Amino acid sequence: MPQQIEFRCQIVKRQQPNASFVILTFASPEIASLAMPGQFVNISADKFLRRPIGIMSVDREQGLFSVGIRIQGEGTLNLSVLQPGHYVSLLGPLGHGFKLDNYDRVITVGGGTGVFPLFFVQQYCQEHGIEGIAVCGYRSAAESILTEEFTKTACAVSFASDAGDMTIAGHAGHALAGVIADLIEKKADLSRTLIAACGPKIMMRTAAEQAAAAGISCQVSLEERMACGVGVCLVCVCKTKGSDGEIENSRCCADGPVFDAEAVVW
Ligand SMILES: Cc1cc2nc3c(=O)[nH]c(=O)nc-3n(C[C@H](O)[C@H](O)[C@H](O)COP(=O)(O)OP(=O)(O)OC[C@H]3O[C@@H](n4cnc5c(N)ncnc54)[C@H](O)[C@@H]3O)c2cc1C
Ligand code: FES
Repeated sequence: MPQQIEFRCQIVKRQQPNASFVILTFASPEIASLAMPGQFVNISADKFLRRPIGIMSVDREQGLFSVGIRIQGEGTLNLSVLQPGHYVSLLGPLGHGFKLDNYDRVITVGGGTGVFPLFFVQQYCQEHGIEGIAVCGYRSAAESILTEEFTKTACAVSFASDAGDMTIAGHAGHALAGVIADLIEKKADLSRTLIAACGPKIMMRTAAEQAAAAGISCQVSLEERMACGVGVCLVCVCKTKGSDGEIENSRCCADGPVFDAEAVVW
């Protein structure tokens, strides 16, 4: 491999905002300095295959990075109980992240665990003078996560919940429609606006359709089941369209996880 990607990293902080989510912060000057929004780490959960988890934020000065984990099955449960001081084997930073540098405005559209990697996008936008608008969809206010952090970091936020107890009733697509309508009403230049989506496939597809209808660029982060995380085992293969429209097999881990929405075969 061209550069070191396997590290033993110490957990320096563990936060549990609610019963379903844990945020772990690791000391790793290498990963903190190299990571770009949309990239992920493949974390060893001891007896299991590694688990891919998006990078949620970096502190490049302190050499720290954080991940947000939803406790789903045994692997994430094992990760969720690790305490500060524990060392974990990590591969990273892996994959191709979001391409943000040609844009003046980035609208992140996240649902479920997709909000975690998109927080890194908002952090990057804040640091690079890009107008960041955060659209997040949750099941309910009680199950929402990172709302304060998004509110502090993004220029504007729109939070939706299925339960109807947040600003917008419904899913992230409903909130995105409002954001786009607002920009159109203000006659905003959308030619250098990007929609960056991560979350359930149906949500990303809706975001991609809304982006196409409004003439806005769109990139989506696909979440396939993974094993090696580095392009070798082919567990994560998904169908994409090449520039000539031909259907191709892409490795979500190494060719993605972020793809142009137009290239995705939904
Ligand atoms: C690029 C990438 C980034 C990710 N980022 C995050 C993140 O920031 N935070 C987070 O909590 N999770 C993230 N995930 C999903 C996470 O990897 C899975 O939830 C985890 O592997 C489940 O492992 P488990 O052992 O707990 O559950 P398992 O027992 O293996 O499965 C439990 C449930 O999780 C589902 N699941 C398993 N693997 C995946 C997967 N790859 N994608 C979606 N669902 C899966 C299963 O279908 C099942 O319903 C990401 C996945 C990918 C591919
Ligand atoms: S997970 Fe092995 S090739 Fe992608």
